[in-house]
Amino acid sequence: MYLCNCNGLSERSVQDALKPCAETGACPLPSVAALFDGFGCRPRCGKCVGELRQLIERMQLATRMPVAAE
Ligand code: FES
Repeated sequence: MYLCNCNGLSERSVQDALKPCAETGACPLPSVAALFDGFGCRPRCGKCVGELRQLIERMQLATRMPVAAE
């Protein structure tokens, strides 16, 4: 399932991008902007931003990791 159709970002790829910080605690969870930067793209239509933010917040609640400032 794609979370970001404009950039072809799947839910799995986003979860995989968040996992290293969530599992190791070596870094804060990325902000939505940092997530896009990590994939080398930018939001286009913006429809996915809320869903990406919710995914990061769910992972934050599950791991108690802070989220990097935007
Ligand atoms: S769906 Fe992500 S920017 Fe359009």
